[in-house]
Amino acid sequence: MTDLLHSPGFLGTNANFAADMTLVMSILVALIFTTGYWLALKGKYDIHKWVQTTGAVLNVILVFWLMLLPYRDFIVRDSGGPRDSVFYYVTTIHATVGFFAFVFGNFVVLRGHKLVPEKLRFNKYKPYMRTAYALYITTTLLGVWTYWTWFVTVSNPPVF
Ligand code: HEM
Repeated sequence: MTDLLHSPGFLGTNANFAADMTLVMSILVALIFTTGYWLALKGKYDIHKWVQTTGAVLNVILVFWLMLLPYRDFIVRDSGGPRDSVFYYVTTIHATVGFFAFVFGNFVVLRGHKLVPEKLRFNKYKPYMRTAYALYITTTLLGVWTYWTWFVTVSNPPVF
């Protein structure tokens, strides 16, 4: 498994398999959230709930498994650097918006399953859910920009 993750990627960029998989999975999660949005618009709230829960859980796995360590190694510790300044700021903007999407999105999911304290149980679903959706989608777009910077435009791409 580790060998596969570190082998060359399948998208024809400088990325390895792990990074290409992260990109494809992130886009898949965004499509899952968009399907869930559409289900809410159709009034199918029960399926909506499980579709959005699936998206949020996959997102948690992606962040912990494939995003935190590269952030620590190549941004915080600057392994193999220095690189162009865009490399650091695009990744940090992505991570910052992503942090809020992660916290807020998981809060919305936990509230949906009645797993937060009574006083945090909002009842006006729409504004909370639209905000969570907007944060997730913005983070995904910033993630695509991050991928592009790391593995297409930067002159010495990170190797891991
Ligand atoms: C898992 C727990 C969830 C439950 C129980 C749930 C339930 C609901 C309900 C009942 C509504 C209708 C609100 C209304 O019409 O006033 C709604 C709408 C919505 N939900 Fe969720 N939801 C959950 C998770 C999420 C997540 C994580 C997202 C974002 C990624 C999300 C995105 C949306 C959006 C965008 C709408 C608004 C649709 C519109 O504009 O009419 N939901 N949800």
